[in-house]
Amino acid sequence: MLSECFIFGVITFLTAGAQCQDTEVFAEAGSQALLPCRYSSSSTVAPAIMWNKVNKGTVWRKEKNGLQYRGSSWTQRAKCPHSQFERGDFSLQLNNVTEQDGGIYTCRVVGEHRVTESRIMLIIIKVSVSPSVPMLGSDVSIGCKVTPEPHGVTVRWMLNNRPFRTAESVVNVKASVRVTGNWTCVVGYEGKEGRASATLAVKGIIQPSKDDAKVYAAVGSAITLPCVFTPGLFPAKPALEKLKPGSLLIHTPDRLPASFVASSPSSEPTSDHSATLKEVEFEDQGTYRCSGIIKGHWLTRNMQLVVAKIDSSTLSKKRDSLTLTCQLTDTSEVVDYEWVHVVYDVNGTQSVESIQKGKTLSLDKVSEENQGEWTCRFYGEEGILGNVTHHVHLMGGLSGKKSSSVSNNTVATVGLSILLLVLLLVLVKMYLNHQRRKRILQYPALETIVHTTSNEREERERNREKK
Ligand SMILES: *[C@@H]1O[C@H](CO)[C@@H](O)[C@H](O)[C@H]1NC(C)=O
Ligand SMILES: *[C@@H]1O[C@H](CO)[C@@H](O)[C@H](O)[C@H]1NC(C)=O
Ligand SMILES: *[C@@H]1O[C@H](CO)[C@@H](O)[C@H](O)[C@H]1NC(C)=O
Ligand SMILES: *[C@@H]1O[C@H](CO)[C@@H](O)[C@H](O)[C@H]1NC(C)=O
Repeated sequence: MLSECFIFGVITFLTAGAQCQDTEVFAEAGSQALLPCRYSSSSTVAPAIMWNKVNKGTVWRKEKNGLQYRGSSWTQRAKCPHSQFERGDFSLQLNNVTEQDGGIYTCRVVGEHRVTESRIMLIIIKVSVSPSVPMLGSDVSIGCKVTPEPHGVTVRWMLNNRPFRTAESVVNVKASVRVTGNWTCVVGYEGKEGRASATLAVKGIIQPSKDDAKVYAAVGSAITLPCVFTPGLFPAKPALEKLKPGSLLIHTPDRLPASFVASSPSSEPTSDHSATLKEVEFEDQGTYRCSGIIKGHWLTRNMQLVVAKIDSSTLSKKRDSLTLTCQLTDTSEVVDYEWVHVVYDVNGTQSVESIQKGKTLSLDKVSEENQGEWTCRFYGEEGILGNVTHHVHLMGGLSGKKSSSVSNNTVATVGLSILLLVLLLVLVKMYLNHQRRKRILQYPALETIVHTTSNEREERERNREKK
């Protein structure tokens, strides 16, 4: 191709004095390609520009008089941004490129004294996955198509940004969790590299989207634990269970939280087996497992429920001071805490103020202006993870939390009932004993008989032992 360019250059040099450059541009199918073309001149006369595709004719052109034409097959996809013309930049912009756009383009600029022509090879890279969403365990092929494919092109693969050992342009694998993710085909040519990607998703559990994903909830709030399969996929024996701590290898199911509500069993098969916790308790934290059987494969995905609460304490020295601490059952993802005071104006509109960083918040004096709701927001690397709110009251104990006091009351009521029941049983037992004794006293002779027989038996036993 270089020699072609050279010959062309020689011919044009003889006629008008031309320059010739060769370059390659890579573009992923569906993306935008920018074909460079620069021309510098001190002349004030605008040059004529011609963008052609080899063997396809005009893509776009502008005459010296300013008239513009676009090749009939290029509709709105080809553009030469005017704003750059003054700087001598006549680059061609091609939107939504397809494989058919791959090939050699020429940019010919005819100035007052000089003609330049540059040749650009547009290489389109397209990665395709077939079938697009395979079933777990079935065959899937990931292909990298390079158009045109000049001699000397190399192909390598990356899976989730890590090298995948193969130099084939088509990779055949069995669909599994190990091969899901972002497949990138890296094409090398003449020392340059271009790349294109496609995502391989395997039919199965789509939510939680990854194993051991964390779900954050505040004590007393409601939360949905996701367990969703690919739409249209109806697993056998779907389950969402809590696992015993430390049993990740043996998978022993644990007792479910008190407010756990499984998705209602409907007559129609469903792909969504999520469950809700109506009122999260601190003890509900831990590992939950979403599972189901698809075509003989047992699919599972675990998630971690992280529960947040606020501990409040009062310094013994200063009775009206208050320290609030933001507590999470797992802080491995948390990078920052922030406290905000939620205030309501006369119209009941909510606004937040008094932002303070840190895990603990100290209120020197519980006064009128800092009573109300204090919210601890916790953040991860990628933004907010969740929040938990504490109510500070002025009277009747410095602070309290509505939801937790409600559950404390229930605990107290249940405890009291059990105590009463036990008392009642003891009373009944005492009454029955009393009745029996009364009956026996009515028959004193019977009592003597019982006594003598037992005495006789003891006598006999003693004699046997002596022998
Ligand atoms: C890009 O081209 C493809 C195929 O020609 C078409 O289906 C798609 O709608 C186009 N996208 C845009 C944004 O024009
Ligand atoms: C795949 O990875 C490439 C870089 O390796 C990145 O540019 C692209 O956005 C990723 N695609 C998806 C769908 O994550
Ligand atoms: C309360 O609402 C009224 C009427 O909607 C408005 O004029 C007033 O400014 C509001 N007050 C505050 C403090 O927002
Ligand atoms: C706490 O989180 C809930 C739910 O995401 C949100 O609606 C609320 O505005 C948050 N509160 C504060 C004070 O950030």
